[in-house]
Amino acid sequence: MTVLLDVGGLVKHYADGTRRREVLHGMSFALAEGEVLAITGPSGSGKTTLLNACAGLLVPDAGSIRLTTQSGTVDLARLGEGARTRLRRHHIGYVFQFFNLVPTLSVRENVLLPLALTGRQSLAARALERVAELGLAESLDAFPDQLSGGERQRVAIARALAHEPRLVLADEPTGNLDAASASTVIELLCRHVRDLGAGLLVATHDSAVAARADRNVGVVR
Ligand SMILES: Nc1ncnc2c1ncn2[C@@H]1O[C@H](COP(=O)(O)OP(=O)(O)OP(=O)(O)O)[C@@H](O)[C@H]1O
Ligand SMILES: [Mg+2]
Repeated sequence: MTVLLDVGGLVKHYADGTRRREVLHGMSFALAEGEVLAITGPSGSGKTTLLNACAGLLVPDAGSIRLTTQSGTVDLARLGEGARTRLRRHHIGYVFQFFNLVPTLSVRENVLLPLALTGRQSLAARALERVAELGLAESLDAFPDQLSGGERQRVAIARALAHEPRLVLADEPTGNLDAASASTVIELLCRHVRDLGAGLLVATHDSAVAARADRNVGVVR
């Protein structure tokens, strides 16, 4: 078993009025290649904070986030912003809770954006095939505001996978979907992650998603 992501002793403080609020409280876990790990916990416990830290979008106040790629192992908590951005662009795919699609770009352009940013146009054909597998072949020229919530969610998934990252992060990927669409979306996400040999961290309130994961890790409030 190859460990892809090794998180140890993570702590983040936020200013809460005049007080400091601690989240994550030193949480530790590891994610193996090919593994699907569900991150569960009550609202406000720190699931999004954890995913943002693993994406290199925020730096924790303590702890390490060791990501292993073809080029070796690095600790995101010790890297500067430029290095974290490069690492994210190449090795991490993030399905944001509220999609974060670019409203002025079409579905095709949104999905291909990670390839434009890293100059890896050779992955474009496969990325567009994945759009079709996600049931969006007819929507390639549509803009995000012409799509339903479930369709936007699937575009966000296709975009997160376009550059074939090692680590996929998904924040409540079924949060806006009915039970049937939720189960389709999570199946597709898990299948594509498995096909890429990547690891998936999925923050969720949905017990069906948690049950679909190989393991669950709880975040304590
Ligand atoms: N930028 C910020 N500034 C101050 N406090 C913050 C900030 N971001 C998050 N928090 C606080 O940190 C705590 C954890 O937030 P986080 O968004 O990580 O929780 P969550 O588990 O994802 O919640 P939910 O299930 O509602 O999405 C919350 O109490 C929140 O108010
Ligand atoms: Mg959240």
